[in-house]
Amino acid sequence: MIAAVRKARRLQGDIRVPGDKSISHRALILGSIADGDSHFRGLSTGADVMSTAGCMRALGVEITDSSVHGVGMEGLRHPSEPLDCGNSGTTMRLLAGLLAAQPFSTELRGDESLSKRPMDRVVTPLREMGADARWPPLIVGGQVPLHGIEYVMPVASAQVKSAILIAGLYATGTTTVIEPVMTRDHTELMLQAMWPKADGDYTKFQVHEIRRLEPLDIDIPGDLSAASFWLVAGALIPGSQIRVLGVGANATRTAIIEVMRSAGLNIGASNTRNVAREKVADLSAFPVKEMSAIQVNSDTAALAIDELPIIAVAATQLPGLSRITGARELRVKESDRIAAMAEGLSAMGADITAIDDGWEIRGPRQLEGAHVRSHKDHRIAMALAVAGLLADGVTEIQDAECVDISYPGFFDQLESLC
Ligand code: S3P
Repeated sequence: MIAAVRKARRLQGDIRVPGDKSISHRALILGSIADGDSHFRGLSTGADVMSTAGCMRALGVEITDSSVHGVGMEGLRHPSEPLDCGNSGTTMRLLAGLLAAQPFSTELRGDESLSKRPMDRVVTPLREMGADARWPPLIVGGQVPLHGIEYVMPVASAQVKSAILIAGLYATGTTTVIEPVMTRDHTELMLQAMWPKADGDYTKFQVHEIRRLEPLDIDIPGDLSAASFWLVAGALIPGSQIRVLGVGANATRTAIIEVMRSAGLNIGASNTRNVAREKVADLSAFPVKEMSAIQVNSDTAALAIDELPIIAVAATQLPGLSRITGARELRVKESDRIAAMAEGLSAMGADITAIDDGWEIRGPRQLEGAHVRSHKDHRIAMALAVAGLLADGVTEIQDAECVDISYPGFFDQLESLC
């Protein structure tokens, strides 16, 4: 599908975005191995989370729209076929951790994009824990019990951290993960809610072998990574009034807000509360007059990794040289996001140079509508759609249906805000 996006005069509305994708994956996986039924309101309906639900069903877990019938830590069934993780790196990496600790062997497969993404980063620590883990293709499990390790992670990755912690629930002794820089901590918070003895803070977290996780009953907050597209658009398009209700505002996810504020784009939070240990708020974007260029380094890049494409769009509108660095990980996401954004924004007239680990972007530039490629990557499609709202003329986005990976209904919501 080709989506056509026209320049917006202003954006207006109070909206909700899909449930947080990262929390939804964890809810389905950890809920599946809890003792009893978990209830989740607001789970993401995106294709990635559906991939996780499909895999858990293939492992013998009953899942409906909002509840998971947990089978206990020892209750997963050997799947009759390889598991299909679709486009979802989070599904593949988190399940690699869970399944490495099972007494049976499982193969995990993905689509063309996922099949090319690095899995050695999860295979290496799982092997250190004594697991049978091989890649490619990714095959894990059948050699138990695992033993706890202290793992100093070479790459900042919440997915790898989570895989090790989930495997650690089944391992003898203690499993400790030490991160080079902080990444999202949804696994740690959920584990603490299900089993209060999980322990740690900031970049060091520990789990011990356990027999039982308590089921959960939680509201999943809206996804800040999805909300960011509207917040950036609302802050850049004069006269806009956008409020996104009930968005996850966990401190390991809000770097986008700090980056925007440092550039003079104001994102305000109100009605802040805690829901199941996760901070939640209503977020509003305010257009401003005094703007400046953005500087992102590796610490911020890790905390805003999924928002960097939309930050690049914002940088095209800011005066001066914005430098986004320390983000080499973008090269191995659903697409090479450094190359994909440089290609799309260049076609729209931006002054953007791809560097090894990010971009240099000189602004402000009036963008022009163009035919651009999403590279079948949901975040590229949505970031270029926001660029289209800022650009003169019409922007056509190729393979735009990929937004369904995290945000079914994205283009309908865009229409309703204009
Ligand atoms: C995620 C972690 C991040 C992020 C991805 C979701 C998670 O990936 O890019 O969209 O839910 O743990 P990495 O851990 O590979 O950086």
